[in-house]
Amino acid sequence: MTRQAYRAALLHALDDPSRSPDAVDYHADGLLIVEDGHVAAFGAYADLAASLGDTPVEPLPGRLITPGFVDAHVHYPQVDVMAAWGAQLLDWLHTHTFPTEQAFADSAHADAVAQVFLDQLLANGTTSALAFCTVHKTSAEALFEAALARNMRLIAGKVLMDVNAPDGLTDTVETGRADTEALIRAWRNKGRLGYAITPRFAVTSSDAQLAMAGEVLAANPDVLLHTHMSENTGEIAEVARLFPRDRDYLAVYERHGLVGPRSVFAHCVHCDDEAFRRLAKAGASVAFCPSSNMLLGSGLFSLKQACAQGVSTALGTDVGAGGSFSLLQMMGEAYKVGQLRGDALDPLHAFYLATLAGARALHIDDKVGNLTPGKEADFVVLDLAATPLLARRAASTRSLAETLFVLAVLADDRAVERTYVMGDLAHARGST
Ligand code: GUN
Ligand code: ZN
Repeated sequence: MTRQAYRAALLHALDDPSRSPDAVDYHADGLLIVEDGHVAAFGAYADLAASLGDTPVEPLPGRLITPGFVDAHVHYPQVDVMAAWGAQLLDWLHTHTFPTEQAFADSAHADAVAQVFLDQLLANGTTSALAFCTVHKTSAEALFEAALARNMRLIAGKVLMDVNAPDGLTDTVETGRADTEALIRAWRNKGRLGYAITPRFAVTSSDAQLAMAGEVLAANPDVLLHTHMSENTGEIAEVARLFPRDRDYLAVYERHGLVGPRSVFAHCVHCDDEAFRRLAKAGASVAFCPSSNMLLGSGLFSLKQACAQGVSTALGTDVGAGGSFSLLQMMGEAYKVGQLRGDALDPLHAFYLATLAGARALHIDDKVGNLTPGKEADFVVLDLAATPLLARRAASTRSLAETLFVLAVLADDRAVERTYVMGDLAHARGST
């Protein structure tokens, strides 16, 4: 048996703080005890010290331990498209993204980028993610292999796209099905991995391919469905042109059995109340990707509207349209989007979105998302004095919410001193 203990400030969310006021559990002087990769105890040092026995305690003054962050929507092959200037979604896809994704036909390239991607996740304190690969089966194999070697809880899938995309970046209904089914068989529940059936979006899949995705989803109750929806006005117009008989974008996915409790839709910037209600009724989740939405000029997602209609919502970086791997930064970006709509996002709610809400959307909240005893010990040590400015500002905060907001606005990977995956040190700042 291995047992480790850390004394620091501790924070996790037990539920959505916007719905239940006691949902956030914080201990200014806390103790986290980890046993064989799982949380053995989380609470006040004064309450738990007696149970330590001969377990040595590492004191971490000035540090805040939180659960590892969960990125509910990210593209691993798009590391090298980050920070592309000047284009909106459809133009951005054709000019920057599709050419970059074509390179993933080469498995050595895919292997190399998968390592860079996972290094970036861990450096930013992200221990779980729902990730797009490319259309190439080998791209998914590269990411799964790399994540398995690091024992990460990661869900991914080969992209399905059989129309409206360049040569070299399309599959067919048949090859898409065969590759998806083979990948599900090979990787689902291997280590801590999971599979998501991943049609890119309605623009690049034929009706026949979307129907196939629905069939594979129905046949595999333990996999997710991951796609994009209602992100950008140009894209929405194109979906209306391609699917004139469907009453809206969501209806295309509904018609093919793709909207259920295991479905995660990135963006939903332009959904109306009625679409949000349909998503909520189906138990589907939305990944809010504020950095991407602003950089691509997609629009301002209404978290307030989604929450009012009861839609499960989490946070995604959407790298490479998004400009950062940091969920701390996404908390800040989400706040800015809210401000532009006249809705100031509560910092505790933002923290929930970056942790437990993501785990819930990905259906892994029985294992990660917070640090209740028995859960897998994926956690982050945040250094509240990582930069002179952060140190100065964090020293003058008067509440937990204020400290979290300072992190959301002023922090990034520099504040992530260490990242632990199942109790093992997976990243130490300055080492990568
Ligand atoms: N819609 C279809 N493909 C993509 C993509 O790669 N990124 C984003 N942000 N939206 C998409
Ligand atoms: Zn995306």
